[in-house]
Order: sequence, then C-alpha cells, then structure tokens
Amino acid sequence: MTDTAANPLRAGLRLERTPTPSVLVIFGASGDLTKRKLLPALWALCEDRSLPPGFSVVGIARTPMSHEQFRQQLRDTTAADKTVDPSVLDNFLQGLYYHSGSIDDPNMYISLKALLEQIDKERGTEGNRAFYCSTSPSFFPKIVEQLGRAGLVTPNATGSGWTRIVVEKPFGRDLASAKELNQTVLKVFDEKQVYRIDHYLGKETVQNLLVLRFANTIWETNWNRQYIDNVQITVAESLGVEQRGPYYEEAGLVRDMIANHMLQLLTLVAMEPPVAFDADAVRDEKVKVLRAVRPFSDGRLKTDMVRGQYAPGFIDAGKVAGYRQEAKVSPTSNTESYAAVKFFIDNWRWEDVPFFLRSGKRLPKRVSEIAIQFKPVPHRLFQDSTADVLAIRIQPDEGMTLQFDAKVPGQSMRERPVLMDFRYGTSFDVAPADAYERLLLDVLLGDSTLFARRDEVEAAWTIIDPILRYWNSTPAQEFPNYDAGTWGPDAADDLLGGQHRRWRRP
Ligand SMILES: NC(=O)c1ccc[n+]([C@@H]2O[C@H](COP(=O)([O-])OP(=O)(O)OC[C@H]3O[C@@H](n4cnc5c(N)ncnc54)[C@H](OP(=O)(O)O)[C@@H]3O)[C@@H](O)[C@H]2O)c1
Repeated sequence: MTDTAANPLRAGLRLERTPTPSVLVIFGASGDLTKRKLLPALWALCEDRSLPPGFSVVGIARTPMSHEQFRQQLRDTTAADKTVDPSVLDNFLQGLYYHSGSIDDPNMYISLKALLEQIDKERGTEGNRAFYCSTSPSFFPKIVEQLGRAGLVTPNATGSGWTRIVVEKPFGRDLASAKELNQTVLKVFDEKQVYRIDHYLGKETVQNLLVLRFANTIWETNWNRQYIDNVQITVAESLGVEQRGPYYEEAGLVRDMIANHMLQLLTLVAMEPPVAFDADAVRDEKVKVLRAVRPFSDGRLKTDMVRGQYAPGFIDAGKVAGYRQEAKVSPTSNTESYAAVKFFIDNWRWEDVPFFLRSGKRLPKRVSEIAIQFKPVPHRLFQDSTADVLAIRIQPDEGMTLQFDAKVPGQSMRERPVLMDFRYGTSFDVAPADAYERLLLDVLLGDSTLFARRDEVEAAWTIIDPILRYWNSTPAQEFPNYDAGTWGPDAADDLLGGQHRRWRRP
C-alpha cells in the first residue's frame, strides 16, 4: 500500500493539488536561476508526484544546446543524490526540451509555437502553457509583446487551453517603470494570468506566519499597538555582491531587498485577517497595509533611514574586500549595500508602532527573521524582567522562538529570559521545500495567492520612490561606513531611538 493510499487525507490533498497537463516555457534557460532553482524545484515536484502526466518544459536561450545537453544540467545537479530513482528521472527528462534562439527574434516565437503544438500532440498537454521570464528584466516587455504577436497567448477563460506568465523580480526599478511594465503586460495578458513572483512568499516560514496569526487565537489579542512595542525585520547576508556587481550597481539594496521581499514580510505581519485564504482576499488586505504606510516626508528621509556600504573586513576569520573593490563595481560607487528604514503604518491597529526593516551584505551571518518585540510590563514587580519577543526565523533553521522571562531556580526571586523553540525540521521531520517548488506548483494550478498583484507592486514602489530619489540626489559622503563582518553602520543603532530598543543579534 502506498503512503497516499494509507492516508486518505494526504491522498485527497495530493489530488487537490495536481495541476492539469501543461508545458512550462522558461526564457533564460541557460541562466543561473534555471539551473540552480527552477529545474531542481520541478524535479522535486516530480519526485513528490505533484506534476501532471505529460508535464513538459521548454527552455529558451541563445546558447546553442541540444535537448540532451539541457537535460544534462539536471542530471549533474542530482548526480550525488542516492535517493533518486533513475527511471523516474529519465522519464522526467524526456519531457525537457531546449529551443535555442533570441528573445528579440520574431521567428523564434514561430518555431516555438510549432514545438509547443508538437508537444501538445505527443504529450497531451492540451495547449496549457506557462511562460516564465527568467532573464534580465530588460527583456520582460519584449517577451510579452512577442508572445502576443505570435498568437501564443490564449485569452483567459476561453476553455481552449490556459496561458499564464510568470515575471521574475525585480518588477520595475521605480514606480514609473513598474507602471509601464504593468501596462505592457496587461495589454497582452489578463491580470488573472499574471504571476509576479517574489520567492520569499514561497518559503514555509513566511506562509506559516499566516497560519500562526490566523489559525491560533492566542496572538490576535496581543497583535496590535497595545502590546507590541516594535517589529524588526532583518535580512542579513554574509556574502558580498559576488559576480553580480553590474546588477547591484544598478539596483542597490533597497531595490533588491526592501522594495519587494521585505515589504512583503511587513504586509504579512501587519495585515488584517482576510475573509478567505484566496488570491484576492489575501492580496486586498496586503494592499490595504501598503496604502496605510506613512509616506516619507522630507524630514523623515533624513531621520528615518540609514544607508551603508561595506569596507574591507573579516567574515569567518577570512579577509574580504570592500564593496568598492568588488569586481565590476565603481571605485567611487555610491550604491548602498546596507539599509535600515523605520516604517509606520497609519491605521487603527498599528498607529505609532515602528517597523524597523534592515538588510545588508557582508554582515556577520546569513539570517532572515521577523522579531515581534512586545512592550515591557506596565509595572515592574521584578527587577530584571525583560520584554517578550516572538522571533520568526525564515532562514536558516526555519522555525520560531518565543522569548519570555522565567524564575531562576533558587531562594531568591530572580528571573531571566528563556526560550520556547519550534523548529520545522524537528517538529515535522521533513526539511521545508524550496520556495520555488511551492510557487511553480501554484502557477500550474492557477493559484496566485502568493504572487504580487498589480496594485500591490505599484503601492510598494509608491512607498520606496521617495527614498530612492532622495538618496540619488544626495550622494553618501560617508561611504564606506561599515566594516565587512559587522552589523552595519553605527547610525543604524540611533534609528531605534529609545533606551529600551536595540537591534536583535539573531
Ligand atoms: N539567480 C538567482 O538566484 C535569482 C534569484 C531571484 C531572482 N532572479 C531573477 O531571475 C532572472 C534571471 O536571473 P539569472 O541569475 O538566471 O540571470 P542569468 O544567469 O544572467 O541568465 C540570463 C538568461 O537570459 C538569457 N538571455 C540573455 N539574453 C538573451 C536573448 N537575447 N535571448 C534569449 N535569451 C537571452 C541568457 O542566456 P544566453 O546568454 O544563452 O542567451 C540566460 O539564460 C533575473 O530577473 C533575476 O533578477 C534570479
């Protein structure tokens, strides 16, 4: 008996989450994301029996490659895994095709159409297609326009095979470009066919935040300005910019992390309970939060944010270069590799509760967490009592920790903070799946709950634009202002603005 047969609930869930036969077309198939994330995620879904029969992938890029060479990328990735069933892998690889050509070339789309029709006939994929833009963002509009021109986009809900488009981040580089991209995409696709991906939303812990808040009663009474002093969201990386100097010089940390991933986390912490767990209900609530974020007035641009750029330093006892010494980075670069920003959400629940978001490269460790810092008790009976903290670890070691005071055993009435710890690995005995697995499956299922909607993206850029404009117009004289391997510039400590507030050292 298989495990699904033994467990009807699991069997039911599995059936519920099996998509219709389809083809995923990946633009940028010779790139880093396809190799490291997309193909392994699809393979994991196949191993988990979550993919439909006949499921196929067509990879597109200019690099000349045979179908077999394209398949070999996945063979290499899985080579060391002793649990792989070779016959299942071979079967999966038979559904992988490579189509060499340039995104700019209209003829490429004509031959792509012919290949997709052939796959429909041979593998029963019924004209169902998801197009994944895994290229530099400058190609996104071209891909969309050419797909439309080549007649590769079926209108939504015609019943003649579905078409969806997945757009990687960054979705625009400011409000104007995001609006322009939205207009281009929505000339060809219906909003319901568009999946703007933010892989943070595919992470188990991030989804668990919704379960934590909305499947348990204990938090709701405390989850507001009466009991919460501040919220700290940290996304720290110990790596520098690696080979991505040119991209980073254009983007900077605020565009790369805060405008998307971190604002997404903020909305999930702050949103009101949606009426249902469906795409529009959840996203309606997230958009309300973004619209309630207090705009950055001129005064707050000077006081409520700190930028940084790393100088040479040490990570794990090894010497590392400063940002300006990295490959393909200007020696006088003004790009920020660190930012800390104080947000306020002007609504009934959160008025005057600061949300501190910080992120940086070359910090001491790679860690992402959301820390809900509760207020201290109103009247201190015990000298050493500390404020409680709920820390939600997004990576690594996914889980959450509640820190509260307990009595130290002994005759005196002394207390100190102790931890109640929940770890995904220990509690469920499985490692959380990679975010791309969940999100790719959702695309194939037509579930856009965990993808950003048009108004959400534009609301986020409306918040971020003034920061970018201000920093752009006032070059940072103080750069570099933190050593690699430290927790960022000293000025970030002042941002918390209170004796009792400190950044957590996760
Ligand atoms: N890598 C990551 O970890 C990561 C994480 C999150 C988001 N993203 C986003 O995912 C996207 C892809 O990132 P990546 O790191 O995979 O980039 P990448 O390694 O630079 O890959 C870019 C891909 O685009 C293809 N390409 C470039 N010009 C082309 C053209 N004219 N016609 C057809 N194909 C063309 C390249 O193939 P050829 O040169 O062979 O044509 C290559 O396959 C970006 O939007 C990035 O921001 C990446």
